[in-house]
Amino acid sequence: MLRLTTALLAMAAVAKTGNEPAPAAQQIVAFKQRTSGPIGIMTTSAGSPIELKDASSTLNSNLIFNEYFMDSLTHIVRERIPERLVHAKAAGAFGYFEVTHDITNICKAKLFSKIGKKTPVAARLSVVIVERGGSDTSRDARGFAIKFYTEDGNFDIVGFSTPMYAYKDPLLFSSFVRAQKRNPATNLIDGNTLWDFLTLQPENLYMFLLVFGDRGVPDGYRHMPGFSIQTYQVVNESGEKHFVRFHFIPDAGIKKLNSKQAQKISGIDPDYATRDLYNAIGKGKFPSWSVSIQILTLDDVKNAKFDVFDVTKVLPQDEFPLKPLGRLVLNKNPTNYFAEVEQLAFSPANLVPGILGGPDKLFEARRLAYREAQYYRLGANFNKIPINCPIQNHVLAYNRDGRPPVKDNGKDTPNYYPNTFNGPVPYKDENRVDLIEIYQDAPNNFDQARELYMNEMTKGERSRLVDNILYSLGGAIEELQDRAVKIFTIIHPDLGYRISQGLKVNRTSYYRDDE
Ligand code: HEM
Ligand SMILES: *[C@@H]1O[C@H](CO)[C@@H](O)[C@H](O)[C@H]1NC(C)=O
Ligand SMILES: *[C@@H]1O[C@H](CO)[C@@H](O)[C@H](O)[C@H]1NC(C)=O
Repeated sequence: MLRLTTALLAMAAVAKTGNEPAPAAQQIVAFKQRTSGPIGIMTTSAGSPIELKDASSTLNSNLIFNEYFMDSLTHIVRERIPERLVHAKAAGAFGYFEVTHDITNICKAKLFSKIGKKTPVAARLSVVIVERGGSDTSRDARGFAIKFYTEDGNFDIVGFSTPMYAYKDPLLFSSFVRAQKRNPATNLIDGNTLWDFLTLQPENLYMFLLVFGDRGVPDGYRHMPGFSIQTYQVVNESGEKHFVRFHFIPDAGIKKLNSKQAQKISGIDPDYATRDLYNAIGKGKFPSWSVSIQILTLDDVKNAKFDVFDVTKVLPQDEFPLKPLGRLVLNKNPTNYFAEVEQLAFSPANLVPGILGGPDKLFEARRLAYREAQYYRLGANFNKIPINCPIQNHVLAYNRDGRPPVKDNGKDTPNYYPNTFNGPVPYKDENRVDLIEIYQDAPNNFDQARELYMNEMTKGERSRLVDNILYSLGGAIEELQDRAVKIFTIIHPDLGYRISQGLKVNRTSYYRDDE
């Protein structure tokens, strides 16, 4: 009895000394406080008021005549849409981008036109591989997608939490996804398929060194950096070309979780990062990122000793230092997650005058893939869903009809081009510039991987990296373990040696239950 009382008192103390209640836990309470009594008479989807008897019980009544019952049952079975193939689990928020430094000498895009200019943004921060209900603290890269609602329509940076990507040939995308997703027979994540793919396409391992290192589990999204990875061609008013990579560094500092912490949190709160972001914004502690760019001239591109458009490599900062550009601030939570975050449609193809995108094959493939994915999961008119509509300018596309939503469907304006009847006309760019054409060599990023292992990771992180690799590779068959050791040895003999030694001791399985 005494013990129980003490426990209750302890709980009360926690509740009292805890700061204000968490906004995420109070959302529905806050709604009640904002309203004085029910907000109206409930209706069917068609707007017909519902009578108390129909809303109370169906027992001993004729179901078909209960329009509340019919409407809600037939609707709920249609309420799920396909989740994103990748990046299904995410948090979303809104805010603005503010220019702090002038870059009009290299880029004419209106969103960068003057210092102090603010552009509204939508952000979606995601885990790549897990499904929509998966854990926010699973070991993975993270998506860092920002939609800028500019005066020239939407510009999307669809980036990652790592400054490099896994492979440069987009032909590998489907296999890369399948090798990491569930095995078609067991429906389990499969160490063999992952390590088979990684060792057959070893350029992947540079990014995976970060994923298996400390950066593989960020401590929430507020402490996570973002990178465009892709090198974008930009042009200025005079039509001069430059090339940039975007970096977003969290003002609150980069923080990470180790595997033990991550696994523990996974069991307690798989929505850890989503809750953390919502609560921070709800309390007015707005997360922000300093935005900078690495700038290359056309000569830099020509003279570089490697393909500067290769997404499996970083652009060395001693050669191409970060130049400050602006600040990204997230200060508004979604009001409705499905409407504003699930339906968000990002695409590298969403570009604006002054920003031409990348000349590489991966960028070209991405221009197709995202649009295709969104036609599939959101339908033909995904760009007419309010959250995907530009805010600062008017859409005057010639597209019409299709599965709803169609908004005003272009009203009575001409629906073909060219026309004689005052339909919208294209603008003319006096200094028109095309994307440059490039030749891309085969991937080889072992030097950068070696540099990361030797000079950028601390001694402690190298040990955790080895542990984390062993945890995953230990579940793969011997043939794959041997192949992996060979490649890790090429990256660095010390890494190869430690993994081979670890495997000798640990040739047991974490994922397999057959030994
Ligand atoms: C630099 C390399 C890449 C980066 C940084 C990247 C990043 C992202 C991000 C952040 C998302 C989630 C967007 C959101 O929050 O809605 C995403 C989704 C997606 N990505 Fe990528 N990705 C890359 C390469 C690729 C490639 C090569 C392909 C295929 C050719 C691809 C296909 C997709 C698809 C189909 C989706 C789902 C889109 C949707 O359903 O809305 N990605 N990617
Ligand atoms: C565009 O870039 C070129 C080369 O750097 C420069 O000479 C020119 O002044 C720039 N134009 C504008 C409008 O900034
Ligand atoms: C064996 O695996 C465990 C779990 O990853 C790790 O803590 C341990 O250090 C490994 N042993 C060796 C010798 O690497």
